[in-house]
Amino acid sequence: MDSNDVQADLKHVLYTKEQIQTRIAELAAQIDKDYEGRDILIVGVLKGAVMVMADLARALHSHVSMDWMAVSSYGSGTQSSGVVRILKDLDTDLMGKDVLIVEDIIDSGLTLSWLKSNLESRGTASVEICTAFRKPTAAKVEIDVKYVGYDIPNEFVVGYGLDYAEKYRNLDFVGTLAPHVYE
Ligand code: XMP
Ligand code: MG
Repeated sequence: MDSNDVQADLKHVLYTKEQIQTRIAELAAQIDKDYEGRDILIVGVLKGAVMVMADLARALHSHVSMDWMAVSSYGSGTQSSGVVRILKDLDTDLMGKDVLIVEDIIDSGLTLSWLKSNLESRGTASVEICTAFRKPTAAKVEIDVKYVGYDIPNEFVVGYGLDYAEKYRNLDFVGTLAPHVYE
């Protein structure tokens, strides 16, 4: 096998391209219904949300504007602390806007909880959250996530925007890594 083959790095597929696209279409239909007659500003959190933003935006029939934020969460190692630094802020004035934050995955939920209150403090009409994936750990933080693609087990996953050392974001499915990759 080609040593540069991405597939060889994966242990198993959690959700296929088809399953992800089906669920995104369902979420888009729900969002269109909930926001009927209103414009939506979808805010993607870089870099992980790039894929879900692109697919969700194309599946929506509502009038949509797109903007991006990059944040970094201070913490020890892989543990998110909830103390967030803005690396790239929005270009859009949020006054009176209906904002939908789009995320790849919610783990502790601390980053999003901070982000939601930060955006709300800018005079928004509403702020809701849409995430492609959510881990069970997210239940520990009180955060209302209106749109969830799939609830997944507490495993490290890659693909569909999610990375390990910046790799695998470009996969059109989501899977777990084979141990040889990180051991
Ligand atoms: P919170 O604040 O919810 O942070 O703990 C969520 C962020 O943690 C990263 N994360 C992952 N990235 N595979 C990844 O590639 C995973 O399984 C995973 N779990 C958490 C991710 O950056 C997310 O935005
Ligand atoms: Mg992320």
